[in-house]
Amino acid sequence: MNRRRFLGIGVSALGAGALAAVAAPSAARLFAAGQPGRLLTSELDLPEAFRIPLPVPPVLQPVRTDGTTDYYEITQQVAELEILPGVKTQAWTYGGSFPGPTVVTRAGRTAVVKHRNELPVPSVTHLHGGHTPADSDGYPVDLLLPVGSATDADQRTAGMAGMSGMQGTPGATGTHGTPGTHEMHGMPGMRAAAGRNVVGERSYTYPGKQRAATLWYHDHRMGFTGPGVWRGLAGFHLVHDEPEDALPLPRGERDLPLMIADRSFAADGSFRYPAVDPSLADPGVTGPYANGVLGDVLLVNGAPWPRLDVDRARYRLRLLNASNARPYRLELDPQPAGGGALVQIGSDGGLLAAPVAHDGIQIAPAERFDVVVDFSRYEPGTQVRLVNRLGSDRTAEVMRFDVSSKPVKDDAMVPDKLVAVEALDPAAAVTTRDFAFRRSRGDGWTVNGDPYQPGRSIAAPALGTVERWRFSSDLHHPVHVHLDHFQVIGRNGGDPGPFDAGWKDTVDLRPAEAVEVLVRFTDYAGTYMLHCHNLEHEDMAMMADFTVR
Ligand code: C2O
Ligand code: CU
Repeated sequence: MNRRRFLGIGVSALGAGALAAVAAPSAARLFAAGQPGRLLTSELDLPEAFRIPLPVPPVLQPVRTDGTTDYYEITQQVAELEILPGVKTQAWTYGGSFPGPTVVTRAGRTAVVKHRNELPVPSVTHLHGGHTPADSDGYPVDLLLPVGSATDADQRTAGMAGMSGMQGTPGATGTHGTPGTHEMHGMPGMRAAAGRNVVGERSYTYPGKQRAATLWYHDHRMGFTGPGVWRGLAGFHLVHDEPEDALPLPRGERDLPLMIADRSFAADGSFRYPAVDPSLADPGVTGPYANGVLGDVLLVNGAPWPRLDVDRARYRLRLLNASNARPYRLELDPQPAGGGALVQIGSDGGLLAAPVAHDGIQIAPAERFDVVVDFSRYEPGTQVRLVNRLGSDRTAEVMRFDVSSKPVKDDAMVPDKLVAVEALDPAAAVTTRDFAFRRSRGDGWTVNGDPYQPGRSIAAPALGTVERWRFSSDLHHPVHVHLDHFQVIGRNGGDPGPFDAGWKDTVDLRPAEAVEVLVRFTDYAGTYMLHCHNLEHEDMAMMADFTVR
């Protein structure tokens, strides 16, 4: 019995809870300590923590605006960055920086973002949490081919019909992996699918029919989202609206996006990633990393373990976990007297109805938590570390806030009531659907037993209706739904958890959990996806299409 077959039976017949009792060394390798993923260590010395000032990504200015629309342009390009002090790292970037520039838009106005691909590989850009028409959603086979690539028409002439974008493109050639080998590869079907490909430039249209929220954009290319994001293809996209403007929340320099991401570095300074094929022509990671890649360097806004001088005042921190597979439990250390330091005001889909005070926040890949921290609760001069209670050694620390002693004025506050949030009614659900996120007996991560196949929809909700979707897991899976945000109504038959409040687009499932959500399908018909946001699971086929009709 080979390892995968053994594990497949283990998961389905014993249930995930029994996995801890499975003593096979190979199982221990994959599922060590119940953690998703496996640590990939860096090959060079790691810098001391709390030396580098926190960078804040630049805000992207529109190139033009008219009565309804703001137009932006981003060039995807290779850039040499200094992430570790004195070390050059070649990154794939949006506009030359990692994170990419922050796109700031207003509800009710359309944003058109034109991407130009000067990378050596095709790309797909997805606005995560965006309420986006299907043709701008970043469907994973709708490739933006690099500037100068052969066009689809050229390829058809050359007799390559049906393989458009997958052949004759730098970085996208080669044969797919053989099922049953030691490594987990993307599914063969992923290689043959042809999407709506364009060469050089592509405009994505975001109509702005959504609430103020902390969104992010990232690469979503079929089979290569993990290495693409790991190498730097991620940035913030903030939406503002009038109900948010009316609140006395911290603003300006006291409203900070914090992109938390773990990475590993090779001896030559490059990002280290356990790709089966280092040239990234074939998707997939080597066997031990099939459950996710964990880095040993924690970056915030692209800087390792940074520090920030803060006033004794309230700050809005927009926490984003942009890691491929690593979950965090974030806490401030020391806690201020009385606890409750992290006052959550928003989740993935925008502001909550009322704030929720937490001592710590558990954040899975792709989730966002908007929190307000009042640093006036600390004595002047206090050094407050943001720590990760799920980490150990260097991954147990994230960044540090150094509380200033100068007296400041702070007009910001967190009102007891924030904004109106409609609660979806479970009785309004017209259908209940089950989605099981599991490792299959074969080589892949699956949804309802099947690896992803582009174009094969497994649900067809009708526009305007509310559905109840039930997600269940074998191991850790952060489940993400495109198009519409959802509300969590239960976990394992009980109440929602402490981190489930508000409109969500990503919900963390721990091993052998079941989560129920309500989602209403609005505005746009077409094909979208739901998938696991552990990017190694995603790349290895844990995705499914649904088509809104
Ligand atoms: Cu953040 Cu479908 O992804
Ligand atoms: Cu997963």
